[in-house]
Amino acid sequence: MSDNVKVEFGGKTSEYPVLSGTVGPDVIDIRKLYGATGAFTYDPGFTSTASCQSAITYIDGDAGVLLHRGYPIDQLAEQSSFMEVSYLLLNGELPSKDELDKFSYTISRHTMLHEQLATFYRGFRRDAHPMAIMCGVVGALSAFYHDSTDITDPKQRLIASHRLIAKIPTIAAMAFKYSVGQPFVYPKNELSYTANFLRMTFGVPAENYEVDPVIESAMDKIFILHADHEQNASTSTVRLAGSSGANPFACIAAGIACLWGPAHGGANEAALNMLREIGTPDRIPEYIARAKNKDDPFRLMGFGHRVYKNFDPRAKVLGKAATEVLDKLGINDPVLDTARELEQIALKDQYFIDKKLYPNVDFYSGVILSAIGFPTTMFTVLFALARTVGWVAQWNEMISDPEQKIGRPRQLYMGAGPRDYVPVDKR
Ligand code: CMC
Repeated sequence: MSDNVKVEFGGKTSEYPVLSGTVGPDVIDIRKLYGATGAFTYDPGFTSTASCQSAITYIDGDAGVLLHRGYPIDQLAEQSSFMEVSYLLLNGELPSKDELDKFSYTISRHTMLHEQLATFYRGFRRDAHPMAIMCGVVGALSAFYHDSTDITDPKQRLIASHRLIAKIPTIAAMAFKYSVGQPFVYPKNELSYTANFLRMTFGVPAENYEVDPVIESAMDKIFILHADHEQNASTSTVRLAGSSGANPFACIAAGIACLWGPAHGGANEAALNMLREIGTPDRIPEYIARAKNKDDPFRLMGFGHRVYKNFDPRAKVLGKAATEVLDKLGINDPVLDTARELEQIALKDQYFIDKKLYPNVDFYSGVILSAIGFPTTMFTVLFALARTVGWVAQWNEMISDPEQKIGRPRQLYMGAGPRDYVPVDKR
């Protein structure tokens, strides 16, 4: 631990301890700052603020490192499975074979939805964005599973966690089915988590659905790469919602709402739309010029990251996977050529070099998802599906943290000072 940090303010000196994590930057513990100085800190967007302690995920943005419980993301993406990574995120260690079998079995026993939930879907317009449906249906789970909403009971927390992870693929697949007007397909628990989701999405009751192992493996990899990402906007939303004691279904619905935005999970949809709009590599310079123009709100979607200022390790895995999947499926999508060319041009451009803007996880994921057959509106839904395990792990960690308090940021007030009310006829 480093020396205390001294703050001189208002003629008084106060001292603050410095906390050291396992790895990563030290943290100045300013919990007593307001009491000692009467001043707040100002940090919009929390660029310098650690909001909690966590032992789940570690990111070194400058080195392009992402670790889950210490394990590098590329090793997990290449060698593990989404179920195993889920177990790891929730429990802290890789499972033994027995532990993994038991966990997968438990999750598979919770895949069905209360039948009455299907009527919720019918209340939505067919052209509703599936993320709108996700927010509504996941929020509604708390109206159906009353026996797992008492957050003070560890057993209920565990059941709610399993239910959320197990039911989210069913909910996501039903959102898709509803939008295309096909019947809902019930889960089949003998299949793997990912194969089951593919069947519920692309299968129809009238026919057998054979899961293509190339697609299953690519999908599983995408789920692993999106499973958790430290204290990002949606995870912080889940923690903040949960800090008031809200039930886990409500908290995850809040996370889904936050993820939807184009600066966060919505970027994968926006990135593919952008690549399709660019169309051919010869139009790239026009879009690069727009991205650099301060008067144009256009941004290169799938580029840049709040934390990664070197490269996003997830984008590396996905860039490789995009080529493999399209090759194996025999798909020749010009959008992949546009993506590769855009990446090359942007990486050599001084603007992007100076601002340390690199492709992020969303840049290549859309190319793969589109090759698998998902419409762009489903991309963020898939992100939400995979991230649910991360949200659940972070929510559980927060609930068990003795230092946890209700989240209550303060503000720098810039509005009118005190003044007297003026009756309407005197204004
Ligand atoms: N295209 C062009 N310029 C950019 C881009 C971009 N994609 N991203 C950042 N910049 C510029 C920005 O204009 C700013 O310039 P200046 O300093 O001259 O004002 C500078 O780079 C810093 O940008 P910022 O918005 O202050 O950085 P941030 O850390 O607040 O934002 C970000 C990070 C991810 C929101 C942003 O890079 C962005 O909007 N990227 C496009 C959307 C995207 O791909 N989001 C997915 C993120 S990864 C998945 C996830 O975590 O959800």
